[in-house]
Amino acid sequence: MTLPPPIDQTAAWRALVAHATAVRNHHLRDLFIADSERFAKLSFRCGDLLLDLSRQRIEAETLELLLDLAREAQVETWRDRMLRGEHINITEDRAVLHTALRLPADATLTVDDIDIVAQVQRELERMAEIIAAIRDGSWRGITEKPFRHVVCMGIGGSDLGPRMALEALNADRDTDIAVHCVSNVDGTDIARTLEKCEAETTLFVVASKTFTTQETMANAETARAWLQEKLGPGIIDWPRHFMGISANTAVPGKFGIPPHQVLQFWDWVGGRYSLWSAIGFPIALGIGMENFRSLLAGAHAMDRHFVGAPLHENLPVLMALAGVWNINFLGLTSLAVLPYDQSLCKLAPYLQQADMESNGKSVDRWGRPLGYATGPIVFGEPGTNGQHAFYQLLHQGPQPVAADFIVPLKSRYPLGRHHDILLANAFAQAEALMRGRTRAEAEVELHAAGLSPEQVAMLAPHKVFPGNRPSTTIALPKLDPYHFGMLIALYEHKIFVQGILWGVNSFDQWGVELGKQLAKPILEELTDAAAQHLHDAATSALISLARSQPRS
Ligand code: F6P
Repeated sequence: MTLPPPIDQTAAWRALVAHATAVRNHHLRDLFIADSERFAKLSFRCGDLLLDLSRQRIEAETLELLLDLAREAQVETWRDRMLRGEHINITEDRAVLHTALRLPADATLTVDDIDIVAQVQRELERMAEIIAAIRDGSWRGITEKPFRHVVCMGIGGSDLGPRMALEALNADRDTDIAVHCVSNVDGTDIARTLEKCEAETTLFVVASKTFTTQETMANAETARAWLQEKLGPGIIDWPRHFMGISANTAVPGKFGIPPHQVLQFWDWVGGRYSLWSAIGFPIALGIGMENFRSLLAGAHAMDRHFVGAPLHENLPVLMALAGVWNINFLGLTSLAVLPYDQSLCKLAPYLQQADMESNGKSVDRWGRPLGYATGPIVFGEPGTNGQHAFYQLLHQGPQPVAADFIVPLKSRYPLGRHHDILLANAFAQAEALMRGRTRAEAEVELHAAGLSPEQVAMLAPHKVFPGNRPSTTIALPKLDPYHFGMLIALYEHKIFVQGILWGVNSFDQWGVELGKQLAKPILEELTDAAAQHLHDAATSALISLARSQPRS
């Protein structure tokens, strides 16, 4: 097989390098002055979701060259291969079909001779039945009390999506059953959660694609022990308080969970793309099946757009290209995720996994080392909180950072002037990052404030903002299940397209292995005084220090 050249060896890439040199010093402020149609030309829509790229450092030629790069990388061919169910996750020999989880019930997709849509719909039905039984109290605990608390235990992709969505869609909650999420192996997490629960009315949900993840299994064992302690050590009926969610459906049985209390998903659903599957059970429990289906429908609308829109109007493609332009040609390797909605407080942690676990790779699909940066360092916090924390660096730090502003135009919690103040801040921050403030402008302001020439000279340099800091604005009518689904699918496809552009496999995560492997002998040493393994001096010293401490 002849391998394609690494993307940075192609004419399309080289043209972008030359173009970046030519436009590097162009300032966004001037680009806006020069073209009053800039917003109209560089903002794009999928339904009523708006993607504004006009504050990216993109010019007409930049966009053409970036689209050439997308064609060179065969983005559309790879997209179609993914959607057909080809095993594009080559290192794990798996299809990548999270999009099938949100296909409508009357769609058809047969992969490896299996009717995927029917399979997905059956599991959705099972999920609906289980949720109905929990909500109407027909599934009860062993003392016949209905469940009031549901504790979901999972980590990474088996936690971050549901956790984020439960926060994001809190306005749509239609049950008073409390849904808690526990992920960390630090006992603090489960201990503090159990403090809020009562054994007789608590249902535990163990969510793990593999059902072998150390953190989740440790939490599940602690939950089982807690239940047995509270309800009588002899209880044999404890499994009535447990549900499993896994792609490895034989294993929950070994833990003691009967098959009718296990929801299934499949190896073609990547962990970090799984909130649409049975992993989304806590979401559906919290907001109801109808809302959950609306979430799926929103994501599906974005899928249809991704499949059908030409590259130059395709939101995920354009967003991906803007990111690659920033990272590889302008040297902006970090991405601040700035949702102006408190309900999106878990979006940044979610995207950290979705983006960094997908594209934080150093070799391409064929194992060749990459000569360029890949996934951005993602961080973020809702506005306006972030403004009073790290925005100082965004505005004046010498290392520019790209930003995504996510702005629901209407609040789900309308209250006096709050939303107008929030929107004003979002728009102002993007404007400030773009235009900055020149030395001359700073001096005029200081003079106008009545400062002496000496004070003006002293303060002016501190008041200069370089500007020209690129940002994208994503505006949604409001944060309801449908638009939230669209938003997350937009990011998923952006990440996919970037993976294709960089030539990496976005669907494996070998980088998480080594630490897990090394933790095993260390755990042995921490718990067994006789155990000893070879380590570097720092690791050995820390193990000795920990061993020398009293246990509690
Ligand atoms: O951190 C590695 C990882 O494999 C993630 O990709 C995954 O989402 C997480 O662990 C949890 O895995 P599981 O769902 O199998 O417990």
